[in-house]
Amino acid sequence: MNRVSKILKTKYPLIQAPMSWLTDAKMVAAVSNSGGMGVLGPNAGRSEIIHGPKNISESMRKEIIKVKQLTSNSFGININTPDPRELLSENKYVSELLKVAFEEEVKFFVVVGSVHKELFDLIKKNNGVIIFRPLTPTIEQFKLAEKYGASIVVATGYDEGGVLPEHSFGTFTVIPNTVDEVSIPVMGAGGINDKRGVNAAFDLGAEGIYIGSRFLVTKESPMNLKAKQMIIESDSSDLISVSKTQRSIKTKKALQLANSKFDVAMNLRPAMRLGEIDQGIITVNTGLATIKQLLSVKKLIKNLMEDFEDVS
Ligand SMILES: Cc1cc2nc3c(=O)[nH]c(=O)nc-3n(C[C@H](O)[C@H](O)[C@H](O)COP(=O)(O)O)c2cc1C
Repeated sequence: MNRVSKILKTKYPLIQAPMSWLTDAKMVAAVSNSGGMGVLGPNAGRSEIIHGPKNISESMRKEIIKVKQLTSNSFGININTPDPRELLSENKYVSELLKVAFEEEVKFFVVVGSVHKELFDLIKKNNGVIIFRPLTPTIEQFKLAEKYGASIVVATGYDEGGVLPEHSFGTFTVIPNTVDEVSIPVMGAGGINDKRGVNAAFDLGAEGIYIGSRFLVTKESPMNLKAKQMIIESDSSDLISVSKTQRSIKTKKALQLANSKFDVAMNLRPAMRLGEIDQGIITVNTGLATIKQLLSVKKLIKNLMEDFEDVS
């Protein structure tokens, strides 16, 4: 075991990244039962829109309970940080979600955004483990996270799928830059789709691997089959920038957004969850040409971690 798998209590130092609308208990438990750590993301386990902090956190409670029925291994939930100037009590979405997570004895928190000291303190007070991923990876954020008690940080390159960092530094830049500046373990993320990427990230000094896009194209993923097929059939020449922080495969909607003068952040539900391809965007990492097959989570993890050597 290395430092990351010791902290996560997993066979492999591997996390399935939270992805809005695109995780559920089935996928998360499959990851956790295959040696990695699954993480429930926003809107986990449902395809309909619901409103209000109470309804949203209770919906997450149901999904957490389902995960616990399907696995006894480690799993996590995603917390998007409030603005660091905002008090936790002022953000009902985050405070209600945390309350439910503590009641359900969730141990691992994938905290994404900017370091929020009050949030870090509360998670630690409730014996939670913090895996922190700054949306834009800066040394200042990594150092603050270490100072305030994160156990692991995630360095994400611009190659990633999902909401992009504000600067365009690639994974090959952010992993070594981060490793050189903090003493807690660093997980590498962004564009890692097969064992070549996994091995490269370890060579750059990462002690763990954090993967989103590739898990979308698994049998257990709740992404719509049409979107899975589209990713399999596409390569990087099919990608287009739809806003400052999102890229997409060229769907009808993506082309409209790319040609619009407005910078609109798109919800992933229409195309990716519901399969209404024309109505939405399909965000995925720049390495999508290497996503060629729909695999079971178990087979994917086996392939990804084939060369990983357990040094315990
Ligand atoms: C479809 C999609 C949705 C995502 N949604 C979220 C999210 O809701 N919260 C979050 O912290 N990260 C989100 N991400 C980013 C991932 O957590 C992760 O950082 C990223 O997927 C890693 O890069 P990769 O996609 O190249 O593996 C999303 C990524 C994708 C592909």
